[in-house]
Amino acid sequence: MPEAETSDLFLTVMRNVAATVTVVTATHDGKHYGLTVSAFSSVSLDPPLVLVCIDKRSSSFAAIKGAGGFTVNFLAADAEDTAMHFASKTEDKFASVAHRSPSMQVAGPWLAEAAFAYFECENVDIIDAGDHDVFVGRVHHGARINLEPPLMYWNGAFPKFARPDQVVSG
Ligand SMILES: Cc1cc2nc3c(=O)[nH]c(=O)nc-3n(C[C@H](O)[C@H](O)[C@H](O)COP(=O)(O)O)c2cc1C
Repeated sequence: MPEAETSDLFLTVMRNVAATVTVVTATHDGKHYGLTVSAFSSVSLDPPLVLVCIDKRSSSFAAIKGAGGFTVNFLAADAEDTAMHFASKTEDKFASVAHRSPSMQVAGPWLAEAAFAYFECENVDIIDAGDHDVFVGRVHHGARINLEPPLMYWNGAFPKFARPDQVVSG
């Protein structure tokens, strides 16, 4: 298959794959960084590992590498504006967003109002993968902040759950 056709197919299929929406944050040289990330996955329970795929051209990339870790903020269904804000190139993304310091030095701030949960992670592996790197992080801290349903991304938009009351409370 020609390369252009493969990337068309890739984009078409990925647009139709539903994803959870996170904001990955890191603090490096005293500055906070953060970007919207849908390429998140749970990897292992024992030890507890997750992964995020980060664009090498993003300004958060070097910060996550340099900090030695990151925080994954799982956005709540009403946090669409926060998702778009962290997907932008705004200079100080944290000036207008409620955030708290992590328990662990290598992690980034957690988003007190936009997230329903967060994980603080330490980088344990960084895998070179095309125009992104895969950051595998060991989860050391985190919390379920509230029982809001998650924000999802599908077909270039943020569809809402038809039955938000079905969100798991455990
Ligand atoms: C719904 C959505 C999902 C995204 N997922 C990713 C992702 O998984 N990885 C990534 O590197 N960028 C992703 N982006 C793009 C970044 O959020 C965007 O490039 C951001 O401006 C980078 O910010 P920075 O350069 O300040 O770090 C996504 C954007 C949106 C809107």
